[in-house]
Amino acid sequence: MGNAIRKLRIGVLISGSGTNLQVILDGAAKDVLDVDVRVVISNKAEAFGLERARQAGVAAVHVDPTSFPDASAYNIAVREVLVEHGVDFVVMAGYMKLLGTEVLDAFPNRVLNIHPALLPSFPGAHGISDAFDYGVKVTGVTVHFANAVFDEGPIIAQEPVHVAEDDTLETLEAKIHEVEYRLYPAALQLLAEGRLIIEGRKVRIR
Ligand code: GRF
Repeated sequence: MGNAIRKLRIGVLISGSGTNLQVILDGAAKDVLDVDVRVVISNKAEAFGLERARQAGVAAVHVDPTSFPDASAYNIAVREVLVEHGVDFVVMAGYMKLLGTEVLDAFPNRVLNIHPALLPSFPGAHGISDAFDYGVKVTGVTVHFANAVFDEGPIIAQEPVHVAEDDTLETLEAKIHEVEYRLYPAALQLLAEGRLIIEGRKVRIR
């Protein structure tokens, strides 16, 4: 930690409240996380995460999908913002769009995602409620490298969360988020320390 290693230059993609982004910004500010958040990009103008970025003195950019003729043009615009800000790794934190190959190909094995379920179970936009409604006794959180398939790609870290008899969707959500706020920074720190090695489908931690 601290100054020993060069900081990981990241761009964070969001669509909403950005509580995971906030944990990353806080870790970077306190110097407990060796990342330098260069830019935060949202596909939604109203995403509160953009405000969190501004508060932290980080560039906040809304790239509006509706102002481009198609998804490819939109993804090229996102890529341009990432490149302009000197980003080395892309961190998706509640980004609710499929990231295009236009971005993925520019950052091979350099895009991360967090998902609020134990992948490959319950992929998609409603991981917590899908698991809750299914009646599973254990769900959890997954951090993984992203590829062109939604919620796929080599798994970096997972942590289980038990569903208690008296859990409601709300209490389960709270438990999942608590784990997210630990697991994502931990994975990013491993990445910053150069300790994640992708071997085919698997990620080895050295
Ligand atoms: C998190 O639960 C994350 O796992 C999922 O979207 C949510 C984002 O929440 N992909 P926030 O915007 O970080 O508060």
